[in-house]
Amino acid sequence: MTYKGKVVLAYSGGLDTCVAVKWLMDQGYDVVTMTADVGQVVDLEAVKDKALKTGAVNAYVMDLREEFVSDFVWPALKANAQYQGTYPLNSALSRPLIAKYLVWVAQMEGAVAVAHGCTGKGQDQVRFEVCVGALDPKLQVLAPVRDWHFSRETEIEYAKEHGIPVPVTAKSPYSIDENMWGRAIECGVLEDPWNEPPSDCFALTADPWDAPDAPLYMEIGFEKGLPVSLDGAVMEGPALIAKLNEIAGACGVGRIDMIEDRLVGFKSREVYECPAAVVLMGAHKALEKLTLAKEVHAAKADMENKYGELAYVGYWYSPLKEAYDAFFDKAQEVVSGVARVRLYKGQAVVVGLKSENSLYQDDLATYTDADTFDHGSAKGFINVWGLAVKTWRQVHPAEALTVPDLKAVGQ
Ligand code: ARG
Repeated sequence: MTYKGKVVLAYSGGLDTCVAVKWLMDQGYDVVTMTADVGQVVDLEAVKDKALKTGAVNAYVMDLREEFVSDFVWPALKANAQYQGTYPLNSALSRPLIAKYLVWVAQMEGAVAVAHGCTGKGQDQVRFEVCVGALDPKLQVLAPVRDWHFSRETEIEYAKEHGIPVPVTAKSPYSIDENMWGRAIECGVLEDPWNEPPSDCFALTADPWDAPDAPLYMEIGFEKGLPVSLDGAVMEGPALIAKLNEIAGACGVGRIDMIEDRLVGFKSREVYECPAAVVLMGAHKALEKLTLAKEVHAAKADMENKYGELAYVGYWYSPLKEAYDAFFDKAQEVVSGVARVRLYKGQAVVVGLKSENSLYQDDLATYTDADTFDHGSAKGFINVWGLAVKTWRQVHPAEALTVPDLKAVGQ
């Protein structure tokens, strides 16, 4: 068999990527693995060990948690990025980062290709391949799991034949992808959209009915659109997210259950738990309502949707995404202040807001004696405001007013 060169494989240590190491070796490659730490709960040293034992010529484990937060999660938070208005894109956001380091390791190792362990039905394959293509178009991308057409049984047989340890514990009925921004849960009983997600599919959140009976209040400080403190204690991004995941998760906050339109053309039932993302997004949106000019806020809402879609479909390194970032950065300059959030049995509600940049003016909003609003000017304003509609109706008179058959009272 001809030697094909080195390939860098995105490696989680699960059965698929372990089998992929051997399979790529069988195809004539030297395999280098790259495992990204984006905050998933796993023994990374053991993963590295396993890669080398399986036959990898080199195994990288990279702590990418800080970069994940600063360059992927925070821009998404500034954008309030939620695919189809609901999914905080936790899995989607990690892919361009992993792609970046696949390319980096490939260049360091002089590899000819990179590889991922995605199947042909998901969007992660799309994200990896589009992002790798954007960063280094010369690299080939291999997708062993998509290409080998193994059934589960054949895969296990192949693993056993090649001395790859097959997990003895019963395989989780769910497919999980996890990082600091949240956890995605698919498959098993969740495939029937009529089934309520059972408690055992969740790991970060308590069942709301088991959560504490007293509400928990929390103050989140923001600086230019990003969270910087919890209850007055200044914290770095990763620590703040971890703490919020813990606190809000214990209150049962952050569960998302949705039907999602996949890029690859079908609808899929997706369950997520993203305590920190849900709380931060809610607090951030509320603070934006207090501090952003009306027109900026409205323009931003349209872009937020589009931005979420770009992240979802693998267009992270696109010029449009970059241009949106510039807009969001500018808009966020005034989004500083504090949001007070009440966490209670599965819900996070913003109950208080303050900001030095607040555009809320007491003397204009109040109904008390302190009111300074110029009531007199309302009359002229309304005349001008309504002029176009009035003119239209003079030229095209409205049909006679019709009313339902009400019993007339009075006369
Ligand atoms: N549907 C989500 C997405 O496409 C989550 C995918 C998570 N992957 C998994 N193996 N559970 O971004």
